[in-house]
Amino acid sequence: MSNSVRKAVIPAAGFGTRFLPFSKSVPKEMLPIVDTPVIQFIVAEAVAAGMTDILIITSRHKKVMEDHFDRFGELEAALVDKGKQAEFDQIVDLTKMADIHFVRQGEAKGLGHAIGMASAHVGNEPFAVLLGDDIMHERAGVLKGMVDAFETHGSAVVALMEVDPSEIGSYGCASTEDFAADRLVKVTGMVEKPSPEVAPSNLAVMGRYIFTPSIFGEIEQTTPGVGGEIQITDAMVALLAKEQLLGYTFSDGRFDTGKKIDYLRAVVELALERPDVGPEFGSFLAEICQREGLV
Ligand code: G1P
Repeated sequence: MSNSVRKAVIPAAGFGTRFLPFSKSVPKEMLPIVDTPVIQFIVAEAVAAGMTDILIITSRHKKVMEDHFDRFGELEAALVDKGKQAEFDQIVDLTKMADIHFVRQGEAKGLGHAIGMASAHVGNEPFAVLLGDDIMHERAGVLKGMVDAFETHGSAVVALMEVDPSEIGSYGCASTEDFAADRLVKVTGMVEKPSPEVAPSNLAVMGRYIFTPSIFGEIEQTTPGVGGEIQITDAMVALLAKEQLLGYTFSDGRFDTGKKIDYLRAVVELALERPDVGPEFGSFLAEICQREGLV
């Protein structure tokens, strides 16, 4: 098995019930951050961490994601006719970011099951998993750090972040031991969405994983867990009995765009950073904050 992580899997098949009514007809992964859908940020993150082959796990109501990464001859010709070169480059370049593939998860059986759908495509290679509604800011360098950890230590890696203990019930939760490397810990146990009273820690699993194909065997053996779904956390618990699993800890730069408030934070922070709209948007925000007595 090769040691370099070339493939990424992006599970994006869920209903997105936290974003209804929007997500009734448009996948939540297509929510715009100014003019760019969330899913494009996720693909860009994988590409920036060295991945060249991306598999998006989708479902029947989400065809528009495939259109987004496909060529669109009529629109391209219209842009050329109108001399809109920058717009033309933008829509063509995004189709060339990586080799992008899609597979459908026909039944909503959970995150573990969705990742299991990638088995044939991944083959005998290590791979990354990026959850489709978490945006990680470039400055945090989370996926790149995880890839480095995998290449150095050869074991699966999961991203972990401390959360307020009252919030741990929304996440996979890890118990850990020290590991002699910066940012890394050794994972000793995991539990999916524990109630805060019994949670072993406040270290939450944060939507980025690096696995070897051995996870697929564990997924196959995993029976439905929390919410009646096949949970990736349960497959990882089984893996832990056989292999070392490392946690990559970080504390900044994550936006869960599946949550309304985090989506708004992502839009504001990422819009402010853009040279085209940032300065004007910043003045507007300052003005509105003053007017509303928020500062
Ligand atoms: C999933 C995982 C959970 C993880 C979370 C991160 O849960 O099952 O372990 O902590 O993503 O966002 P979901 O948010 O899909 O319920």
